[in-house]
Amino acid sequence: MSIHKQVKKVTTHTLHEMKQAGEKISMLTGYDFSMAKIIDAAGVDVILVGDSASNVMAGHETTLPITLDQMIYHASSVVRAVDRALVVVDMPFGSYQGNSKEALSSAIRIMKESGGHAVKMEGGQEILESIKRILTAGIPVMGHLGLTPQSIYKFGTYVVRAKEEEEANRLLEDAKALEEAGCFAIVLEKIPAQLATRVAQEVKIPIIGIGAGNGVDGQVLVVHDMLGINNDFSPRFLRKYNNLYDQMMKSFQQYIQDVRSGDFPNSSEQY
Ligand code: KIV
Repeated sequence: MSIHKQVKKVTTHTLHEMKQAGEKISMLTGYDFSMAKIIDAAGVDVILVGDSASNVMAGHETTLPITLDQMIYHASSVVRAVDRALVVVDMPFGSYQGNSKEALSSAIRIMKESGGHAVKMEGGQEILESIKRILTAGIPVMGHLGLTPQSIYKFGTYVVRAKEEEEANRLLEDAKALEEAGCFAIVLEKIPAQLATRVAQEVKIPIIGIGAGNGVDGQVLVVHDMLGINNDFSPRFLRKYNNLYDQMMKSFQQYIQDVRSGDFPNSSEQY
């Protein structure tokens, strides 16, 4: 039987075993109780409480404004819904870049106050000291390289990263440094598929891709994007599994019409 089917609760160890067995890892973002309950029941391996909540839940243009308190609120809602998936929580911008002591106290707050199982941090060598300090407290860390949205003002655009040799080599070195430091997995965002495949082959920890091709150990998508809730976001890497924008629009319009016409509620919908 596949590892995926055997486990009652997914742990970081499960993900390592899945990589070794060549089983692909599925990961989706989740930010609230009701959606996380469905995602978990569907059997996804990892739920990421992404700082993309800043965009899809709060309507900000970037991930920078979301606070540690807000991430803890979203994460605790998700944790209450989940029976099986590993819950990874993004450390928000400003909660770990200052120094390793601050990084550790932010990570401890996330673990204590949300009940999440691991944290995710964007960056390589430049945040290694913080990653190591968090790991010494027994908190599992997932890395995130390539397009790291918390650095959008440094990049200037959301285009594909590491197309040039110098940046590609640096990314590979960063991935190896994260593995050596003790990260249990790494997200690679929006980089050439060939490079992502090479990283997945050269490190033993699972590599989860978003816009990084099919040669990695698993995939992650933002749940609002894959459900087609945002009908104005269609990057090449996104596969839409639904068109909830249209379906929700039709339901809301029908409801409005039924209220206005007096059709709702009818005699069987009242006491
Ligand atoms: O915040 C997020 O949703 C993420 C994924 C895109 C990997 O970091």
